[in-house]
Amino acid sequence: MKREDIDRILGELEALKCKTQKEVEEARVRFLGKKGELTALFDEFRTIDKAQKAEFGKALNELKQKAQARIEELKATLTDTGASDGPKADLSMPGDPFELGSRHPVSIVRQEIVDIFRKFGYDVAEGPEIEDDYHVFEALNFPANHPARDMQDTFFVSAGHLNPLLLRTHTSSVQVRTMEKMDVPIRVICPGRVFRNEAISARAHCIFHQVEGLYIDEGVTFADLKQAILLFAREMFGPDTQIRMRPSYFPFTEPSAEVDVSCNICHGKGCNICKGTGWLEILGCGMVDPNVLEASGIDSKRYSGFAFGMGLERIAMLKWRVNDLRHYFENDMRFLHEFATAPEV
Ligand code: DAH
Repeated sequence: MKREDIDRILGELEALKCKTQKEVEEARVRFLGKKGELTALFDEFRTIDKAQKAEFGKALNELKQKAQARIEELKATLTDTGASDGPKADLSMPGDPFELGSRHPVSIVRQEIVDIFRKFGYDVAEGPEIEDDYHVFEALNFPANHPARDMQDTFFVSAGHLNPLLLRTHTSSVQVRTMEKMDVPIRVICPGRVFRNEAISARAHCIFHQVEGLYIDEGVTFADLKQAILLFAREMFGPDTQIRMRPSYFPFTEPSAEVDVSCNICHGKGCNICKGTGWLEILGCGMVDPNVLEASGIDSKRYSGFAFGMGLERIAMLKWRVNDLRHYFENDMRFLHEFATAPEV
């Protein structure tokens, strides 16, 4: 054992420079590891004679302490965590492509309808899906036991009550809530989900979506209704679209009508979508029955209004020529991908 060995190691420790934690660890192994230089000196120390032990014992212990302190010092001054010794990833590589989701066709159509009516000055109103009998039927001029209630098969939440809770069968209930809350003039559309106890088929589902419209002011006439629907139809289905109105019946409107638009596929010639008629039914509408206005506290002598209601799935089916309603509820990715860029037809 020589003094120079100890001095050399001391010198090396002092001169030691590390850039990364990995280099610090390598230095630790080199000096203090099982096969390190200090371990070798300690092994040698065991074999030397007593006189030399006295000389080197203290020096060796000091060397070990210094080495440990130096390694700790190097570790502490480095900011990197040891996770990496330089960028392993090639940051210039293009990213992994990921799939973008797209809006559901019913949402696309709802947004389009909302945007059109916003332009006409309508606000959007919403109401609860779990409603009471009063707002879905009673206030809309469907008295208890009235046969018109059979037009809509209802899911009841609580039965046997004077005003049972139920899943709303139409968004006309939001008309009532709006009339209760807002002052005239009222101009709202009410998009929302509705529920009916129907067997599921290509043309019917127990859950679907509607948009209800309501306009109440002084002097509103059937001509205003007709013009609003015509403008809407042309915005929605194209500027050449024609409409026709057929007399109908709804308890909450008088007179009532159903509206057809000219078939945008065959342009009136007759095809299998319009079943050869040249017309497609899109909505129900009418002048709000005075009883409905009065039930919500609106003076029917002073004010009049119109209302309309349409099914979103139906509009979407016509727009994209989808022939089975169930596609809208099954979340089949092959179907939903078709709408990734909302193709117009
Ligand atoms: N609530 C009707 C239904 O679900 C649709 C409707 C028809 C709404 C005529 C109206 C209307 O506001 O005037 O079948």
